[in-house]
Amino acid sequence: MLKGISSDYSVAGVDLSPEMIELAKKKLLEADIRVGDMTSYNFGRTFDVVLCMYDSINHLSDWSQWQALFANADKHLAHGGIFIFDFNTIERLKWLTDNPPFGREIGDDYMFMKIWNREGRFEWDIRVFEKQSDGHFILHKDPVQEVSFPVDQVMDEAAKRFPIEKIVDAKNLEQSNPNWRPFVVCKKK
Ligand SMILES: C[S@@+](CC[C@H](N)C(=O)[O-])C[C@H]1O[C@@H](n2cnc3c(N)ncnc32)[C@H](O)[C@@H]1O
Repeated sequence: MLKGISSDYSVAGVDLSPEMIELAKKKLLEADIRVGDMTSYNFGRTFDVVLCMYDSINHLSDWSQWQALFANADKHLAHGGIFIFDFNTIERLKWLTDNPPFGREIGDDYMFMKIWNREGRFEWDIRVFEKQSDGHFILHKDPVQEVSFPVDQVMDEAAKRFPIEKIVDAKNLEQSNPNWRPFVVCKKK
């Protein structure tokens, strides 16, 4: 996503995973990309826009980390700046666990995912079959843990710091739909 805007804007990013950062650095040659914890990392400057996308917030396992993430976004936002985050709701994660595994082609490769509910913590079992030049496939497995909290609790916590301007769903679904996935747009006062 940052690649799409990096020719028009100066972009920076942080991820806990050195491997993800290596990949990002290859795609974003001019960007300020660093390994670090998004709940506490300090860039030492402010930004007009802070993004926490693709349910990255659900990777934070404790509520105190969600609170710290909002505080850190607030710290890095310039006045009038925009903070956008999205998250998987508890309802959506439960709905996904009730669905059969799903998959898709990615170029010559295939990806399959199944989500399991492990006593309120959700495990994404992600398997990628990478096609080799001899036609065989190599299997990569990378389980990802996600947690979520009640929608009102998340919105109230965000609203303590930033007025929420807008909540949208990527597919225009209603909140009553279990597949509803909010993208929350906040603006710093
Ligand atoms: C769904 S992926 C999003 C990947 C990428 N940032 C993007 O936007 O395409 C979630 C990412 O959150 C990262 N992550 C998990 N906990 C983190 C933390 N405390 N601080 C920074 N990154 C974290 C994971 O390493 C993973 O790369």
